[in-house]
This record gives sequence, structure tokens and C-alpha cells, in this order.
Amino acid sequence: TKPLRLGIAGLGTVGTGVVKIVRQKADLLAARAGRPVAISAVSARTRDKDRGVSLSDYTWEDDPVALATRDDVDVFVELMGGSDGPAKAATEAAITAGKDVVTANKAMLAHHGQALATAAETAGRVLRFEAAVAGGIPVVKALTEGLAGNDVTRVMGVMNGTCNYILTRMQATGQGYNALFEEADKLGYLEADPNLDVGGIDAGHKLALLSSIAFGTQVNFNDVELEGIQSITLEDIKHAADMGYRIKLLGVAQLTGRGLEQRMSPCLVPESSPLGQLEGGTNMVVLEGDMVEQIVLRGPGAGEGPTASAVMSDVMDIARGIRVSTFGQPASGLQQATAARASTP
Ligand code: NDP
Ligand code: HSE
Repeated sequence: TKPLRLGIAGLGTVGTGVVKIVRQKADLLAARAGRPVAISAVSARTRDKDRGVSLSDYTWEDDPVALATRDDVDVFVELMGGSDGPAKAATEAAITAGKDVVTANKAMLAHHGQALATAAETAGRVLRFEAAVAGGIPVVKALTEGLAGNDVTRVMGVMNGTCNYILTRMQATGQGYNALFEEADKLGYLEADPNLDVGGIDAGHKLALLSSIAFGTQVNFNDVELEGIQSITLEDIKHAADMGYRIKLLGVAQLTGRGLEQRMSPCLVPESSPLGQLEGGTNMVVLEGDMVEQIVLRGPGAGEGPTASAVMSDVMDIARGIRVSTFGQPASGLQQATAARASTP
């Protein structure tokens, strides 16, 4: 049987995690997919860097676009990050060259996901991004497949591990923001630009993606109302605790009479609630639909292993020939809400 051949651009926290899984679990992956999963070529900024994993079996490409369009690559795995620049250029080149794409890049998708998805669909390719939302939690799959028979009414949750880590550790240790920020960095949670994390922007990107899948809308990050955690002080956290609450960076996307509302902001949640109990880099996503009422998914939202696990979920679907399109179909709930908005003076 023909192997599925990957070209991986980006060998940082997530990329090296993916290389390790493909190397260490080759037999298991082949048995589960019914064909081997192999790496043909890799790319990163710096060639001579010890990444803790051997890359000598793979062709090195300095240029991610050259990697994405190689004849011996079936799936371009984009793990560089950045909403524009080489990530977007290489993703577009891969689609044009007839490759499927797997990415963890929520920033790119929140800004360009619609255009990239349309290009992929036109080319008959798939664009998958399980790792882009809530790291190791298979929430994209839960929405697209598990809840396919539901009209989703609300999606909410804690979707940024860095912010949850900083907020919960401030509460637990009484330490200041800067020391905890450094701890989050050591755990591999931070974006290359950490303002994306603490500004709520990264979590807003994720909410925009989930909303689009859940409600069948075009991805539109500009529609998300945003507020970060930079101005939350130890005093705020202490006052909240005195009243029996925790402060969480919470995202909510829901249908109202005025249409789809999306908001990501610091919120007070009861200390004893599942969201109030959420520690460290853990994420929690709550999905509500007309058939299931409510389901709660909780798990690691960042870091090498969990994020690589989510990337591999997409890779394995492609290896198995599962070509579900992820960006959603219009939900009847949204049509009703839109109709209600149209009739509201
Ligand atoms: P890192 O910063 O750890 O790694 C980025 C990698 O991309 C590095 O290997 C870097 O090369 C390479 N790279 C950066 N710019 C270029 C370029 N211009 N050309 C070629 N290679 C380049 O990032 P992460 O692994 O943490 O994140 C990767 C993606 O995954 C991002 O989109 C991020 O948002 C997303 N993500 C990350 C999670 C996490 O927990 N870390 C969780 C979920 C999603 P070099 O090593 O040589 O510098
Ligand atoms: N920087 C992100 C976080 C990585 O802290 O949640 C996972 O998307």
C-alpha cells in the first residue's frame, strides 16, 4: 500500500511533537490507517539546531513553499505560525499544487480561513485544523461529526492555556504576572507573539473558528468582541476569591434574536463550577445543541504532546480517506436567528 507522505514546515514545539509521533508510533499508525504514514521532507528557519529528534531521514528544504509543492509530499503540514507570510504563502502553494493541508495555525485561519477553505474545496483538497482550537481536545471533530445532527445553539469555554495558567497560578501562589508568564513560556504554551495570548486575541481566533463551524457562518475574527487579561491584578483575583468566584478568560458564541454574538473576555465564574475548577493550561469547551442539550470537553489546550496529537488526528483521517470538510454548513438555528434579526426594528 502507498504511504501517506508528509511535508512538515515548522519544527518547534508542535512540529517536533509530530515528528516524534510519526517516528515512534509508525507501526500503530500504519495499522490504524491501513497504510504507512511517512515524512518526506521538513523545513524550519534554522537548519543546524538540536531539536531533540533525528531528522536525518528526511529531505531538508529551506523554503516552505518549495517543501509544500514537492512531488513526494501528499499532505503539507503547516506548523510555523503567523497569520500571513510564509505560512499563508506555503499553504496557498500547497493547495494549488494539489496537496491536502493540515495546520495548527488559528491566526492564519481566523483571518484567511474562508479564502483558504474555498481554494481547497475548488481544488478538491481538504484543509484540516483540529489542533488550532483547544490543543488536544478533539472539539472540531466533536462539532463536525459528533454533533452533525444538532442545531448548535451555544459554544463557550476557556480556550487559551497561557491565560488560564497565569490566572490560576496567580490565585494559587500569590505570585505576580511576570514570573508566571515565564513559567507558561517554559511549558511551550506561548505564541511567538505572546500579546496574542494575554490580549485574548488567540482565544478570539479560536472562538471565531468554532463559531463558523458551529453556526455555518463565514469565519470573521472582526466580529468577536475582545478583552484580554493584561489589566487583571492580584487584587482583582483576591476580591473575586473572597466572593467565591474565579476570573477566567471566557469565550461565548451564541445565537440571539439579533443574530450570532461572539465575545471573549475575563469573566467571574463560581469557584465550585467546572469552569471555576479549571487549572493550569487546561481548556474547557462547552457545546450546546438542540438534541444533546450540553456536552463538556476538558483537556490540555497547549504544549507539545497534546497539540501534536490533534495534528495527527487530521493526518490519520486523510490517511484513511476521510475527507470531511470542516468549515460548517448553515445551521437552521442561525437562519431562524437571522430571520429574527431581520424582523427586529
Ligand atoms: P514554535 O515557535 O515553537 O515553532 C515555530 C517553528 O516554525 C520553528 O521551528 C521555526 O523555525 C519555524 N519557522 C518560523 N518562521 C519560519 C519561516 N519564516 N520559515 C520557516 N520556518 C519558520 O511554534 P509552535 O510549535 O508553538 O506553534 C506552531 C503553530 O502551532 C502556531 O501556529 C501556533 O499558533 C500553533 N499552536 C501551538 C500550540 C502550542 O501549544 N505551542 C498549540 C496549538 C496551536 P526555527 O525552529 O528554526 O526557529
Ligand atoms: N498559546 C496557546 C495557548 C497555544 O496558550 O493556549 C494553544 O493554542
